[in-house]
Amino acid sequence: MDLQLKGKRALVTGSSSGIGVGIATLLAEEGAQVVVTGRNAERTSKVASDLAATGATVVSAVGDLATDEGAEHVASVALNALGGIDILVNNAGGASEGDQKSWFQVPLSEWLATFEKNVMAAGRLIHLLVPGMKERGWGRVIQIGSGAGMIPTSAQPDYGPAKAAMVNLSMGLSKALSGTGVTVNTVSPGMIMTEGLMEFLQSFAAGRGWGDDTDRAAEYILKGCGQTVNRIGQVSDVAFAVAMLASPRGEFMNGVNIHLDGGGTASIY
Ligand SMILES: NC(=O)c1ccc[n+]([C@@H]2O[C@H](COP(=O)([O-])OP(=O)(O)OC[C@H]3O[C@@H](n4cnc5c(N)ncnc54)[C@H](OP(=O)(O)O)[C@@H]3O)[C@@H](O)[C@H]2O)c1
Repeated sequence: MDLQLKGKRALVTGSSSGIGVGIATLLAEEGAQVVVTGRNAERTSKVASDLAATGATVVSAVGDLATDEGAEHVASVALNALGGIDILVNNAGGASEGDQKSWFQVPLSEWLATFEKNVMAAGRLIHLLVPGMKERGWGRVIQIGSGAGMIPTSAQPDYGPAKAAMVNLSMGLSKALSGTGVTVNTVSPGMIMTEGLMEFLQSFAAGRGWGDDTDRAAEYILKGCGQTVNRIGQVSDVAFAVAMLASPRGEFMNGVNIHLDGGGTASIY
C-alpha cells in the first residue's frame, strides 16, 4: 500500500536514538523528507547522515526542547531548510534519571524536568509548527505517550502524569483544530526494546540474582504485565503506527490514543 508520504516534510523529535530513529527511518523509507533532532550533536548527525546515505532528504537540528530557545532553534532550522513541516512527531522525552525511584524519592524539581522534556517540548513545537499546517490545510501531529500514562504505578509520579497529560492535550488539540485538515493523535507504547529498556532488564536481572540473564527478566516481566501478545515490542511496531497516522490515508483517525502494548492495557474505557 502506498502511504502517500512521498514529499511530506516530517520533524521527529528525539530521533537521535531509540524509537525516534525507527520512526524517522520508516518515514524516510516511505519518501518523506525528515528532520532528525536530538540534544546530542554527534548522535543526531550520525542518524541524519545514515538516512541521507539511503537517498532520503534529511535535515539535522540539535537543541534542548526543554527550553524555549532550544525549541525555537530546532523549528527555525527545519523551516529554513524545508519551508514548512507537515508531520510533527513529538517523541522526545522519557522518564527522569534513575526511573526506579519510589514515589516520594522523586523530588519536585524532577517532576518539573520530566514535564519540560515531554509535555512542554511537545507544546513548544505545536505552537511553532502547527499554525503553518493549519494555514496550508493539512498536517499531522503525533505524540508518543506511554502505557505508564494510562496505568499509574506506585513509582514515577513525574513520568506517568506527564504522558497522561500528552494524551489529554492531544485530544483537546484535535478538537481545537476541527475541520482544518490537521489531525492529532497519540501512540502510547508499552515495553519497547531500546538501549534504555535493555539497561532496565540488565539491572532487573542483576537485582534478582539472575546475573545478566535479560531473557529471564523479560519473560518474568511479560508474565506479570497482562500482555496478550507474548513479546517485547520493537521500535518498528511504534514506527508502523506512526506512519499509519501520518499518512493522508489516516485522515479519519483523529483524537485517538493507540495502546501499542501487545494488549497490556486493553480496556473498554
Ligand atoms: N522504550 C520504551 O519502552 C518506551 C515505552 C513507552 C514510551 N516511550 C517513550 O518513547 C519516547 C522515546 O523513548 P526511547 O526509549 O526511544 O528513549 P531514548 O532512546 O532515550 O531516546 C530519547 C530521545 O529523546 C531525546 N530527548 C530527550 N530529552 C530531550 C530534550 N530535553 N530535548 C531534546 N531531545 C530530547 C533524546 O535526545 P539526546 O539523546 O540526543 O539527548 C533521544 O533522541 C519517549 O518519549 C519515551 O517516554 C518509550
